[in-house]
Amino acid sequence: MAGIRKGIVLAGGAGSRLYPLSRVVSKQLQPVYDKPMIYYPIATLMMAGVDQIMIVSTPVDTPRFRDLLGDGSQWGIRLEYAVQPEPKGIAQAFLYAEDFLAGDPVALILGDNIFHGKMDLDRTMAEFDGGASIFGYAVNDPERYGVVEFGRDGQVLSIEEKPAQPKSRYAVPGLYLFDGEVLEIARRQKPSPRGEYEITDVIGAYLERGTLRVEKLGRGIAWLDTGTHQSLLEAGQFIGALEARQGLKIACLEEVAFNMGFIDHAGLAAVVADLPHSSYREYLEQILREES
Ligand code: TTP
Repeated sequence: MAGIRKGIVLAGGAGSRLYPLSRVVSKQLQPVYDKPMIYYPIATLMMAGVDQIMIVSTPVDTPRFRDLLGDGSQWGIRLEYAVQPEPKGIAQAFLYAEDFLAGDPVALILGDNIFHGKMDLDRTMAEFDGGASIFGYAVNDPERYGVVEFGRDGQVLSIEEKPAQPKSRYAVPGLYLFDGEVLEIARRQKPSPRGEYEITDVIGAYLERGTLRVEKLGRGIAWLDTGTHQSLLEAGQFIGALEARQGLKIACLEEVAFNMGFIDHAGLAAVVADLPHSSYREYLEQILREES
């Protein structure tokens, strides 16, 4: 069962904090500098070796994601889509992905989470051999997130969702690795007092079984979430600053697919030929020239 090749991107939700931006355009379709937000979590999965991805979104937005992303064949991957009828919580994602999962382990990533930096996720995914793996990331405002409490020896003592008194500064980012048991665990779940199926409860079930691992992410890694106007602006500025400085794009899916070997030079050339004339196309044409 070793290794993870499947991923779910959760791209539904109400996006109420982004109103009025999110009134007719899904949060995960909003621009983060030069790409739609969902490109970033998809790139994170692809760079970790995931080549089968299910996008879960709302009834209205799912067709829009399909228009944007297609079946993935242009990037040498498989993209599937499932509808979450109502935004009743992150842990519901698994219920709509049952056929896709087929009992395999999976990486779930939130469509509004951006990761950048050397996380060695490809290794973590390849070596995954059951249970659940999550990450801990030091933040200034842990009370906004799920928070991990560590014991003296670094063992995990508790995970609490949006605690008023956080027991550590370590928030749980929106990237979770689960074995095939996750579907059964999600099925047995009850909604929380706020009426949502909480991912924290699913993680708690693995903690109880003694099969939860938490890896702390260091300061060389950026984890940004883009759920508010301010954080959306900051994420765009962060990506814009890096891209302007290096002349390299972050989360350019065609380039990622090529670097991962999901498509070859001819495959990349074919995709680029279909792109409209733009700085995005010019960037990829340069890669084609450099790699030929
Ligand atoms: P949140 O940011 O917690 O919720 P939201 O996107 O609905 O925004 P707001 O709080 O402003 O109303 O969601 C985190 C991610 O998970 C985001 O990418 C949307 C997604 N999501 C779903 O797809 N389905 C859901 O039921 C929930 C709660 C979230």
